[in-house]
Amino acid sequence: MPELSLTVSGAPATLAYSDVGHGPPLVLVHGFPLDGRIWDDVVPLLLERSIRVIVPDLPGFGRSKLEASAFTMQSMADSLVALLDALKLDTAVFAGLSMGGYILQALVRISPDRGAGLSFVDTKASADDEKGKAGRDAMIALAHEQGTPAIVEQMLPKMVGPRTKEGAEIVVARLKSIMLDQPPATLAAACAAMRDRADFTAHLSSLPCPLQILAGEADAIAPLEVQRAMHAAAPGSRLDLVPDAGHMAPIERPAEVARLLADFAGGIRHAS
Ligand code: MLT
Repeated sequence: MPELSLTVSGAPATLAYSDVGHGPPLVLVHGFPLDGRIWDDVVPLLLERSIRVIVPDLPGFGRSKLEASAFTMQSMADSLVALLDALKLDTAVFAGLSMGGYILQALVRISPDRGAGLSFVDTKASADDEKGKAGRDAMIALAHEQGTPAIVEQMLPKMVGPRTKEGAEIVVARLKSIMLDQPPATLAAACAAMRDRADFTAHLSSLPCPLQILAGEADAIAPLEVQRAMHAAAPGSRLDLVPDAGHMAPIERPAEVARLLADFAGGIRHAS
């Protein structure tokens, strides 16, 4: 697996990624507390639809290293720009799952010309409210004091929809094992970065590229009303809802997610 050396928040880091297939490039950005494996079932289906698929592990997650003890959504977005530069790509379509979506929101603000299209997957445009920020602080303390398993125990029940929880134990077990692999220091830093992220809502009306809003209908973390409000605030956006999926639509309903992502990315290719 290729790896890029870079700096994140002034400290050395690496970004491991896969880059497979031919066609319009689509970068799949994972969420928290995960890594690029969350897209494993989606990738082969996108390849069948003639899309080039690039999947990074963000610095500090999965196979990528991070020496900084703190980072921001913007510094993670900078690492995606560095990846495009290394691959000599002026633009790509980006899909970001939840925290991955927050990172794309930072990316479009710092480098508005690098996204040919954006897919916000199970994510939100609003910043954390006071209750949300207090929850992040509690999770930071939990990560430092009890480590990754305590975070997994707290988060796992909210990650998937009822259909997955009851009928797809293997999917839940895979998800859990990806979550357990993430270092607690990265999880604490990510919680602080998400707590401090800027509100993106005002930018939805003037995005420089097409927007897809894609979400599991049973997402408990970024619920349906949030998805509908984003769609209403972003003229020309498309809203694609995935039945029987929660916050982890790409691992819960990969065929449906791949179809919708390919349709969006393919539409951009035809339009350009
Ligand atoms: C994620 O899935 O990336 C996180 O749940 C996002 C969040 O906690 O806001």
